[in-house]
Amino acid sequence: MRKKIGLVGAGQIGGTLGFYIASKEMGDVVLVDVVEGMPQGKALDTYQSTPILGSDCQLVGSNDYKDLAGCDVIIITAGVPRKPGMSRDDLLDVNRKIMEAVASQIKEHAPKAFIIVLSNPLDIMVHLLHKITGFPKSQVVGMAGILDTARFRTFVSMETGYSVEDIYCMVLGGHGDTMVPLPRYSNIAGIPFTHFMSQETIDAIVERTRKGGGEIVALLKTGSAFYAPAAAAIQMAESYIKDKKRILPCAAYLEGEYGLHNIFMGVPVVIGAGGVEKVIELDLNEDEQKMLDESADHVRRLIADLENLMG
Ligand code: APR
Repeated sequence: MRKKIGLVGAGQIGGTLGFYIASKEMGDVVLVDVVEGMPQGKALDTYQSTPILGSDCQLVGSNDYKDLAGCDVIIITAGVPRKPGMSRDDLLDVNRKIMEAVASQIKEHAPKAFIIVLSNPLDIMVHLLHKITGFPKSQVVGMAGILDTARFRTFVSMETGYSVEDIYCMVLGGHGDTMVPLPRYSNIAGIPFTHFMSQETIDAIVERTRKGGGEIVALLKTGSAFYAPAAAAIQMAESYIKDKKRILPCAAYLEGEYGLHNIFMGVPVVIGAGGVEKVIELDLNEDEQKMLDESADHVRRLIADLENLMG
């Protein structure tokens, strides 16, 4: 039987997700958004591309969360994107209200779905969804690390000229300026970065990666990145649907791993038919652990802000 994929939020990322799913013939799609007509229009437009793509997927749009019933996977992009000069954290109050509504509807209508959260501030939105739904930790995950590492990989490819396919990067931590790119666990075809680039160049690339989302916001002026975030979420959904057991950096719930408790943090996880099947613990040196702890502190402060806002 075909898989059913729910996309909550049919804006820039949601629409792109629908197109990727149809292009890859991953399953049927329901796009749900609060704006009337828009998800229906995007779904019909994408559906009409399937004869040309040679892909049998049905796409429908809806303004009713009930249509999420029976979804195997739900990808959430509902929320407001940032504008130039804003940090992801500035979206906390507006997006938490949206996430509260979305999470309780998903709990009611699609309690078995594997949930991938993209709305920002990412680590807090995935925390909130987990808390409201009460779903097992294996069923809830946030997309951040794949995007951050993809940015890292792109910048390394731009610098060296080598194929993005041969460039492997690891990034841990929260999805923001406190993220922890790990050049020590990154390489080109298994060869350490230092073979190809000076430490100064690597440091500059790490810094550009940290600010990678903001760079796009400043250029677009009217919203944030959507092609690469959508591609990243598709990689996670595919690993789940096909039980690929890929090792991917994602925001996962930690209960003692990396010395962190009861917090969603970007770490390498295994995604397969069981959802988030395992957290992989890397050996970190003192500096790396310190940066990860600082990133966790930042996320905790935002969770405290969230709790204050919720009263
Ligand atoms: N239920 C469903 N959809 C909603 C809801 C809701 N309660 N509230 C808002 N939306 C929809 C909006 O109507 C809009 O179509 O979410 C969509 C968001 O789309 P865009 O504004 O185009 O934003 P996008 O670029 O897709 O980013 C979405 O992901 O990366 C994050 O920071 C980004 O938080 C932002 C989110």
